Amino acid sequence: MTDRSSLTVVLAAGEGTRMRSALPKVLHPVAGQSLLSHVLDAAPQGAGAALAVVVGPDHKAVADEVARVRPDAKTFIQRERLGTAHAVLAAREAIARGADDLLVVFGDTPLISAATFARLRAPLKNGAALAVLGFRAADPTGYGRLLAEGDHLVAIREHADATPEERKVTLCNAGVMAFDGRKALQIIDKIGSANSKGEYYLPDAVGIVRDFGWEAVVIETSEDEVRGINTKAQLAEAEAVMQARLRKAALDAGVTLIAPETVYLAADTTFGSDVTIEPFVVIGPGVSIADGAVIHSFSHIVQASIGKKASVGPYARLRPGTSLGEGSRVGNFVETKAATLEAGVKVNHLSYVGDAHVGANSNLGAGTITCNYDGFSKHRTIIGEGAFVGTNSSLVAPVKIGNGAYIGSGSVITKDVPDDAMAVERSPQNNREGGAKRYREMKMRGKKPKES
Ligand code: UD1
Ligand code: MG
Repeated sequence: MTDRSSLTVVLAAGEGTRMRSALPKVLHPVAGQSLLSHVLDAAPQGAGAALAVVVGPDHKAVADEVARVRPDAKTFIQRERLGTAHAVLAAREAIARGADDLLVVFGDTPLISAATFARLRAPLKNGAALAVLGFRAADPTGYGRLLAEGDHLVAIREHADATPEERKVTLCNAGVMAFDGRKALQIIDKIGSANSKGEYYLPDAVGIVRDFGWEAVVIETSEDEVRGINTKAQLAEAEAVMQARLRKAALDAGVTLIAPETVYLAADTTFGSDVTIEPFVVIGPGVSIADGAVIHSFSHIVQASIGKKASVGPYARLRPGTSLGEGSRVGNFVETKAATLEAGVKVNHLSYVGDAHVGANSNLGAGTITCNYDGFSKHRTIIGEGAFVGTNSSLVAPVKIGNGAYIGSGSVITKDVPDDAMAVERSPQNNREGGAKRYREMKMRGKKPKES
């Protein structure tokens, strides 16, 4: 913990053309959350922690995402893309307020942890003017090289401007920097564009800090943590790193993952104690799984709350707005959406339950379908407590089934069913005595048995 105030400036004005996508780069998801939201979540939070995001002129969707994730953040527009130092200065107004620490981070490096931000800020407390996050690159091509003497940084040389000797350096600039907030503008304002690309390079801050006679240091981290995303292949690599982290965190928290490498989690998935997840389960954003629940194989779950000791799947699909009560069971080939199933409800086979409320201990037989959509609007189905819906029944919404009501199999229910009533909607059965035998004989008369 630190009592120093901070401003984090997130640079997200890049076009991300190498993603080959209409979606702005920083909005692509990793573990069910945009790249940008991972960065915003890791940035310092709470009292005394301000946030500024620099976006491109046509990036309303990016600004919307910022407002959604961190309503306290201020968005600045970089109208021309003249380099990373130029981008930081788009947030000049926020920087000029003079927080103790100014952090600069790229919007496309989603794997940096809050702990690393804290580590990077520590040297500022001890008087350094600048701390740069560095890593040992397996292949340093394209990265800025950190020219250091021990922990002390002398300069950062961009790949394009580096000598063959400097290119051999594998200690690279991750892109994350922490400035003494009261010196930051003095430093960044001095950055020029006399380099091979004619851009204003933020890394040039190191040389300027040295010219002032101040101290610049490097803090090292692993290459995995600072992976930047420029392509879909890198997006997939980051997903793999994030999934490995999430699985490990789940296992450490006591979740049983029988085959962890086959389970996909979201960054915000929460677990109670003694949760079991069988192989091949996909969990999207907004899912909570309470104590003792079991998720069987091949289930797909998004924005759902799963109650204590509930059982889901195999092959269940829980869509947004699903809430499962304690001990409820949603079995194979069952789809739910905007549906609350209270404690002890059973929907064990082949059903669709959408826009519905099902009271405690009701049983929906195989093939029960809530017909929630009439081609124009969605309608609700309300089922009371302890009701029994026979197999292959259609509940045409809006409709209410009372407490303890019983629906005969194969019914198409279009009218409300009172409490404890039995509703049967199907043609009466007609048994013709001996009819099958007569039918067979009639068929046999007209046909010779086949010669074998
Ligand atoms: C940058 C660093 C390099 C470092 C590497 C780490 C510079 C000059 N170089 O290089 O030392 O090793 O990251 O990945 O900083 N951006 C803007 N506006 C601009 C330019 C960039 O918002 O005018 C944003 C981009 O959206 C991106 C980030 O800044 O999020 C970095 O820009 P990028 O062009 O990817 O820099 P690199 O060449 O990768
Ligand atoms: Mg980059």
